[in-house]
Amino acid sequence: MRIIDIILKKRNGEKLSREEIDYMVREYTLGNIPDYQVSALLMAIYFQKLDDEETAYLTESMMNSGEIVDLRHVEGIKVDKHSTGGVGDKTTIALAPIVAACGVPVAKMSGRGLGHTGGTLDKLESIPGFNVNLTKDEFINQVNEIKVSVIGQTSNLVPADKKLYALRDVTATVDNISLIASSIMSKKLASGADAIVLDVKTGSGAFMQDINDSFELAKEMVQIGTNMNRETVAIISDMDQPLGYAVGNCLEIKEAIDVLLGRGPEDLKELCIVVGAHMILLAKKADDLGQAKAMIEEAISSGKAFSVFKEFVERQGGDITFIDNIELLPKAKEIYALRATKRGYIHKIHANTVGLSAMILGAGREHKDSIIDLSVGIVLNKKCGDFVTEGDVLAYIHSNNSILTEQSATKMITAFKIEQNIPEIRPLIFGTVT
Ligand code: URA
Repeated sequence: MRIIDIILKKRNGEKLSREEIDYMVREYTLGNIPDYQVSALLMAIYFQKLDDEETAYLTESMMNSGEIVDLRHVEGIKVDKHSTGGVGDKTTIALAPIVAACGVPVAKMSGRGLGHTGGTLDKLESIPGFNVNLTKDEFINQVNEIKVSVIGQTSNLVPADKKLYALRDVTATVDNISLIASSIMSKKLASGADAIVLDVKTGSGAFMQDINDSFELAKEMVQIGTNMNRETVAIISDMDQPLGYAVGNCLEIKEAIDVLLGRGPEDLKELCIVVGAHMILLAKKADDLGQAKAMIEEAISSGKAFSVFKEFVERQGGDITFIDNIELLPKAKEIYALRATKRGYIHKIHANTVGLSAMILGAGREHKDSIIDLSVGIVLNKKCGDFVTEGDVLAYIHSNNSILTEQSATKMITAFKIEQNIPEIRPLIFGTVT
């Protein structure tokens, strides 16, 4: 088999066989096919697309390129949760202890990734001492004992995706539905969960900005999961404005803690309840969504979810003094108030622009080796639909460098669209795919 023939075939719009896809994934992972040829193939796939069968072959080949995690020793039905990513998405941090408090075992492996802020692991590491590098036995024992653990993905989990994703990132081939679906699902399937809840984002801060594309991605991933005998449900949720108010690692931890304490932003709380209810249902801990939602409300209002969170932080080496008093968590040196320059209703807070403004401050990782500043970020003071007058604070910029504060503010003000008429508000949840 020759890679050039595979490139030619896809360039001409023909269907690739399982053997051809297996060959490409295996030989590329081994370093026997150069980046330039796989780049050409990715671009051919981008334009000619993969059908459902080819996407399934690619997912399986990638899944089998490394270790398949064995969670058989974790008691109960293990339900994983995955978000396709967005700005201010700290859902996992609140959700994992909430569903654990409802009896669902959460054995979660997260990645760090590139993005406007760090990933779940970086956010958790804002808590001094928190350790995301447990051994397999420590991980499994912790889930059996307190129902929740979140650790970094093992280095050998889907090595094919590590190489392919990095290549897609620099060849403008990330936003292809089949490539995203196979990348995400290969990692979910290799992570060993019995069932999966996907939170597919849509809007200006998501991979899929168009609602129809988001549904298509959701359907593709649900089909892959179901065909691999994992019950899979996808929720399509809004990412046209940031989720919650806080964007930045430590700032997001504080907001997640707020949710666990029964406070926190309405949108974040609602998303935790909807995604969590599906997780509880797939884990067979409730008979219907209504009952599952009530279980979540009870876990929060009784304080059980918060005490599971504290136990989880403590078990992974985190200092819970910082959880009992979140004011002790790392803080940026300066807070700049970004003010409205006109009066009217907020029609849009462009999520991607907010993310870039946080990135300017150092909250995110541009390259995989970039060092991120856990204390900086943006805290919105207003959300879409709010009315503001000239001089009202739109957002607070938490920064450690005044030059970066200025650059971030210049970018950030462009995220807001303020108009005279009352805007139509987008729903938080657009639908569910089962
Ligand atoms: N997240 C992934 O893991 N892979 C993609 O391709 C896109 C988002």
